[in-house]
Amino acid sequence: MTHASDGDGTRVVRAGQPEPVAGQPFLPGPVFAAPFHLGPGERYYARYENPTLVAFEEALSTLEGGPSVVFPSGMAAISAVLLTTLRPGDRVVVPSDGYFGTRVFAHEELARFDIRVEEVSTVDLDEVAGVGGLEGVALLLIESPSNPRLDVCNIEAVTEAAHDSGCLVAVDNTTATPLGLRPLDLGADFSLAADTKALSGHSDLLLGHVASRGPDRATRLRDWRTRSGTVPGPFEVWLAHRSLGTLELRLDRQSANARALANALVSHPAVTGLRYPGLPSDPSHDQFTREMRRPVGLLSFELADAATVQSFLSASRLAVAATSFGGLHTTVDRRAQWGGDRVPEGFVRISCGCEDTADLVADFVAAADSLGSLQ
Ligand SMILES: Cc1ncc(COP(=O)(O)O)c(C=O)c1O
Repeated sequence: MTHASDGDGTRVVRAGQPEPVAGQPFLPGPVFAAPFHLGPGERYYARYENPTLVAFEEALSTLEGGPSVVFPSGMAAISAVLLTTLRPGDRVVVPSDGYFGTRVFAHEELARFDIRVEEVSTVDLDEVAGVGGLEGVALLLIESPSNPRLDVCNIEAVTEAAHDSGCLVAVDNTTATPLGLRPLDLGADFSLAADTKALSGHSDLLLGHVASRGPDRATRLRDWRTRSGTVPGPFEVWLAHRSLGTLELRLDRQSANARALANALVSHPAVTGLRYPGLPSDPSHDQFTREMRRPVGLLSFELADAATVQSFLSASRLAVAATSFGGLHTTVDRRAQWGGDRVPEGFVRISCGCEDTADLVADFVAAADSLGSLQ
């Protein structure tokens, strides 16, 4: 249902949808089944195949540019890549500044299989890869923009150097989504994501996927999913597919809101260290303009301490205190409260929602102004 020349808005509306059939819905509802009636050549059990998953995977494959396999969460997608590519004795590099759940999984679960886990920060990767630092490494996991500090990696250069060293590359594309970044086009072997976030975008489900280059990798991941039983339920998958159609609209508003908040707060006296790769003054701006197809809806900055973040939240009407990101509501997450990120107590990640830009800017600036006397 999509053409190669279609723009992003057209592709997300049409991807994975069936050809029109009179009297049938645009997107058929979720198929709830464990076994199916048996017949020659037909599907027989939902751990192996479910048409709702097949349709959503087709949509993701269109957007990513490679065959995609869905998983019940972002972590299930990440662990599937790690566990299908690594063997005992291997070395794996994960981002020191990416989603902390990935580091926890790697350190706590892979070490038992005698897999050596090493960490490199997103800004150092280019140099490490360039001087042969990935020699002997089996898999490199990149997260770009990194979460929560939003550093952007030079994926194409790092991937080329990694491949020269015989190292596979997987990119966690959660923050950008395939509309913002196409890691497979930049040479990566895997593009994976927590579709829990912006891709589904309504803060109402957990889901993940892995897109890969070449059919063999997708088959291996599908076999892993069937054998391990990490199969998502059809309702979540259908909800995500239903939500996908508005992805471009949501990203446009979310990134417009992030840019407006970044501009309004970057020089505010209560705020320090504001990061938004879309700002020309941001350390990641050049890299962002080189590889990313559109800006993200996230920004981060520091307030004085945890109590100041609480005061900010109390003073704001529109900022919702919540973790996760990419949803319709603007959320503020004080990352130090979770203990996994190496950030100061007053560091916050803002996920911009789809509220009116003027409302959001007025609300955030007023909340920041109210902190003046507390600093
Ligand atoms: C960048 C990134 N990758 C993966 C995950 C894990 O996703 P899930 O919570 O769906 O398992 C998260 C969750 O916050 C994330 O931020």
